[in-house]
Amino acid sequence: MIRKLSLAAATAVALFSAQGVVAAESTAEIPDIPFSFDGPFGTFDEHQLQRGLQVYTEVCSACHGMDLVAIRTLGDEGGPHLPRDQVKAYAAAFPVNDTASNPQYVDPATGQARKLVPADHFPANNSMGAPDLSVMAKARKAFEGPYKLGINQLIHGIGGPEYIVALLNGFTGNTKDVAGNTVYENHIFPGGWIRMPPPLTDGQVTFADGSPNDVKHMSEDVAAFLMWAAEPKMMARKHAGFVGVFFLIILTTLLYLTNKRLWAGLKGKKTA
Ligand code: HEC
Repeated sequence: MIRKLSLAAATAVALFSAQGVVAAESTAEIPDIPFSFDGPFGTFDEHQLQRGLQVYTEVCSACHGMDLVAIRTLGDEGGPHLPRDQVKAYAAAFPVNDTASNPQYVDPATGQARKLVPADHFPANNSMGAPDLSVMAKARKAFEGPYKLGINQLIHGIGGPEYIVALLNGFTGNTKDVAGNTVYENHIFPGGWIRMPPPLTDGQVTFADGSPNDVKHMSEDVAAFLMWAAEPKMMARKHAGFVGVFFLIILTTLLYLTNKRLWAGLKGKKTA
């Protein structure tokens, strides 16, 4: 039994390392980033999420909506975890730029957008034809294991945030005109040319805690924030998974011992 078990373990380890090699090849273009939330025990870094929220608010929200995310969730533990009064102030200060896409926030009497409250969602924004970012971090991926085994996802995640970081850092500076519109060269974007102008420049956002604000750091922060937006319950899910596996290990051990004891009388005997 023990020998069989160790054989199974050795096979798993072999499979696992083969996976690593293949994964390294397929991620040549989009490097893995060791985010705090990677791996089975990873958790979101509250401060990073707060910085990412700031980048989204000051930069990305000019073009991108996030209408699946309720503003009140900014106060959730495990997320940006802002104090209640700050969430309230944040909601009230958030502008609804694109009133046509957010009729629910327009006061019919005045035709103007009303102030948002924490119960509202982030507004949609279709003014620039930019996609909604609510679930973007899960809609894109950077790497997956061979045969879609999912082992890579377990260790590194599916790479949505890595894709976003690579995209934000992937502008070459070249532009061209397509039917009167400027497009920007970016090798990470499928097709190589994207309609989004490079949104970040070094030092664009100033963080209260003095965290580094070069393009690389800001893009990592906003990518982490978008991962949280797309999967706010990730930590709860991992926790439940861990409890489940722990329980199964105990159950397996008990069943193994029960089985041994049940058959002990017969197995020990030599019949011939
Ligand atoms: C000036 C407007 C503008 C700003 C500001 C902007 N974007 Fe975009 N973004 C766009 C447009 C337009 C597209 C669609 C590009 C296309 O399909 O060619 C886009 C597409 C994207 C995509 C999707 C790429 C894909 O794979 O489909 C991501 C991710 C993204 N933006 C992230 C961001 C982030 C993060 C920020 C803030 C740091 C940001 N954008 C700021 C206009 C903008």
